[in-house]
Amino acid sequence: MRKNPRRTGRVFPSASSSFSWPRWFAVVAAVVAVAAAATAAPDTTGDDGGVLDGVFTFKALQLYNAVTSYLEYFYDTVIAPITGGAPSSKPKPSRVSYKKFQLLRVLPSDEDDVVDLEALSEEPGVQVWMPIRLNKTADLLLPPSVARDVKRFLTQREIDFVILSSDLERSISKQNPRSPSPSQKSELKATKGHLMTWNRYHRYQEILDYLMYLSEHYPHLVELLPIGKTTEGRPLKVVKISSGQTRENVVKPAIWIDAGIHAREWISPAVALYILRQLVENKSYRALVSQVDWYILPVVNADGYEYTHTTDRLWRKSRRMPIESGRTLWGGMSYGCEGVDLNRNWDWHWGSVGASQDPCDDTFAGSHAFSEPETRAVSDFILDHRDRIQLYLTLHSYSQMWLVPWSHTKKRADDYDDMMYLARQATEAIQKVHGSQYQLGTSPSLLYATSGGSDDWAKGKAGIKYSYTIELPDKGIYGFMLPADKIVPTGKELFTGIKSIVKSIVKINSAMTNKTNNISIE
Ligand SMILES: *[C@@H]1O[C@H](CO)[C@@H](O)[C@H](O)[C@H]1NC(C)=O
Ligand SMILES: *[C@@H]1O[C@H](CO)[C@@H](O)[C@H](O)[C@H]1NC(C)=O
Ligand SMILES: *[C@@H]1O[C@H](CO)[C@@H](O)[C@H](O)[C@H]1NC(C)=O
Ligand SMILES: *[C@@H]1O[C@H](CO)[C@@H](O)[C@H](O)[C@H]1NC(C)=O
Ligand SMILES: [Zn+2]
Repeated sequence: MRKNPRRTGRVFPSASSSFSWPRWFAVVAAVVAVAAAATAAPDTTGDDGGVLDGVFTFKALQLYNAVTSYLEYFYDTVIAPITGGAPSSKPKPSRVSYKKFQLLRVLPSDEDDVVDLEALSEEPGVQVWMPIRLNKTADLLLPPSVARDVKRFLTQREIDFVILSSDLERSISKQNPRSPSPSQKSELKATKGHLMTWNRYHRYQEILDYLMYLSEHYPHLVELLPIGKTTEGRPLKVVKISSGQTRENVVKPAIWIDAGIHAREWISPAVALYILRQLVENKSYRALVSQVDWYILPVVNADGYEYTHTTDRLWRKSRRMPIESGRTLWGGMSYGCEGVDLNRNWDWHWGSVGASQDPCDDTFAGSHAFSEPETRAVSDFILDHRDRIQLYLTLHSYSQMWLVPWSHTKKRADDYDDMMYLARQATEAIQKVHGSQYQLGTSPSLLYATSGGSDDWAKGKAGIKYSYTIELPDKGIYGFMLPADKIVPTGKELFTGIKSIVKSIVKINSAMTNKTNNISIE
């Protein structure tokens, strides 16, 4: 947890809670709880329209939560010491552990609740995953030191809450299947030529290797365009997919897709890679590839992405080191925190709203617009190709939303209706696949206002009319910890949505080309 030194106000002056109940009590409680659990445990496995969707089955969940925490306590204090099979998989000391961190979903139902929750969110170590808004659920991550007091406080204030995860470390360890053994890896490499699958989240090097594999095996279709390097020197490579041929006088439209601007949103690069694979390796989409060119950058924030694999699963920003502020007898002195929020760093109303000037905040906008090598590399490339790129898509998670500019203001764009028209078409197509509903609207209307975001910049500065931020699933049962077996279904439905938009873009483009040609003939 990166603490923000400015924050001093505390809702709970005495947050330390020693959890030392008599052992017999836990045993009794657990026995009672087992019986209760059998009848009260809710089904939280549904894809969509799960139990937590909108309406709370509040009492049942509360009971369930109580039961599971008794059971855990019982295991830790009674069973584990006997069997010795306690938390044996100790994380390496360098890894940030979220053991016993609790993910809570709260529902503020009046202004007072909102004020209380906002104060609570300022507590050291508390993370806000989904923002606090009246009559909307918000997701808060609580460190174990405050979890009990927060729950008591919420109960006192009669603010509804449910526990989505009572031990985030456990959710983290369940998200991604174990990586294959070295011998399995060499076998895969020998048979398939690469290690990519679409049932696990891969490391950056494996992703780069797959891109290389594609460019070698589909040289007529795939080209890798190096556009720069990250802060830590990792290469950024745009995959260009193009069949090359084009009719005379017709400029083929191009589609841009980027992913992984925020490090912890693992589903985003995975879905970009799913789409990439379909376009290149699935012959059913040859026509689609012949109609438009595709530029895909699967991981923008490659440094942060690697950091979420090696050190801190919940890291969001880039990995820029703190600015050295001065020299002392002991050498360079740096203060502050690492990383810049790469989705607040774009040169569009930079730093005006929903972004922080504090390097320790998760939404730190950087020292100035485009201060970061990652955002500079992507924006330079897009500006160079702005005449052809007619659709800008950037993939994030979570919350299942299709966001339309602007994000920095509540004012509607002049062509808001045009953007909404195509977006609605996409979300309707998505819903037909597995029934998933994506909410549609601007960020201020659905979440909050932000500035310096990539989609606003793509529209405002690069002039790309159709520009969208897509918040991928889910709606919060797993949140950032969406299990790897959801990669394919999520990819499939998003690809369906994108295809429907691309069809419209191709139509619009050909109509415009006809018009231009007619004018030039006259
Ligand atoms: C919030 O929900 C409550 C109860 O459902 C309702 O009475 C109230 O009007 C809502 N407030 C707003 C601002 O929507
Ligand atoms: C290729 O595309 C077809 C048509 O959408 C689909 O049915 C098939 O599952 C795809 N193949 C792979 C390997 O994903
Ligand atoms: C544009 O012209 C081509 C042939 O020149 C035609 O096939 C196509 O339907 C036209 N598109 C529109 C939208 O008018
Ligand atoms: C282009 O011109 C042709 C004939 O001159 C006309 O039939 C067609 O509708 C025009 N296309 C557009 C898109 O204006
Ligand atoms: Zn994001």
